[in-house]
Amino acid sequence: MRDSLPYVLILYYSRHGATRSMAEQLAAGVESCPGIEARLRTVPPVSPTCEAVDPEIPAEGAIYADLEDLRHCAGLALGSPTRFGNMAAPLKHYIDSTSALWLNGALVDKPATAFTSTSSLHGGQETTLVSMLLPLLHHGMVYAGLPYSETDLMTTTVGGTPYGASHVAGQRSDQPLADAERRLVRAQGKRLGRLALALGCLRDEAS
Ligand SMILES: Cc1cc2nc3c(=O)[nH]c(=O)nc-3n(C[C@H](O)[C@H](O)[C@H](O)COP(=O)(O)O)c2cc1C
Repeated sequence: MRDSLPYVLILYYSRHGATRSMAEQLAAGVESCPGIEARLRTVPPVSPTCEAVDPEIPAEGAIYADLEDLRHCAGLALGSPTRFGNMAAPLKHYIDSTSALWLNGALVDKPATAFTSTSSLHGGQETTLVSMLLPLLHHGMVYAGLPYSETDLMTTTVGGTPYGASHVAGQRSDQPLADAERRLVRAQGKRLGRLALALGCLRDEAS
C-alpha cells in the first residue's frame, strides 16, 4: 500500500515569472481534486559556456526537478515560455536527460499536458505546446489538452487553446493572467488530477 498521496508533477521553466504563475494556478487546480497532490519543480537555465555553475537551490520559485520526481509522478504538466515558437532550451535539456525512464517505460499510460506563455497573441503558443507534446508521446504518455466544454475557449481574446492553457504576457512579460486564462489553466490542472487518479487505478489493475 502507498504511504503517501500520488502527485502530479508540474515541471516548468520561467525566466520572468509568467509561466511560473500559470504553474501555480495549475497546481491549485490539481489540488482541488481530493486524493492527489501537486509537486512544483523547475529546471535550471542552460549556459552557452561550460563554466557556469548555479546554486543547487534557485533564489526563488520551485526547487529543481530530478529524475525521481518524474519517474514516480502520476501525471505530468510541462510548462515553458515560447522561444521562437518552440519550448525553451532548459526544459528541452531536462527532457533530453530522461532516456533511462523511456527505456523502462516509466511514464507509459500516465496523463500529461502542457502550458505556455508568450509575449504576443500570435507568437507561437500552439506550436510551443505541440513541441512539448512530442516527447510526451515518445514516453507513451496520454496527452490531455483542454476540451471545449471549458466555454472560455470559445470566447477568450487572450490565451487558452485546446492544446493546453496559454497566457499572453505582453512585451515586458508583466501582464497578470486574465480571468479566462486563469480559469482555463485551473481547469487543466483539475482535469489532469482526475485523469491521473483514474489512469493510476487502471495501471494498478493491470499490474
Ligand atoms: C529567445 C526568446 C525568444 C522568444 N520568442 C518568442 C516568440 O516566438 N513569440 C512570443 O510571443 N514571445 C517570444 N518570447 C517572449 C517570451 O516567450 C515571453 O516573454 C514569455 O511570456 C516569458 O515567460 P516567463 O515570464 O515565464 O519567462 C521570446 C523570448 C526570448 C528570450
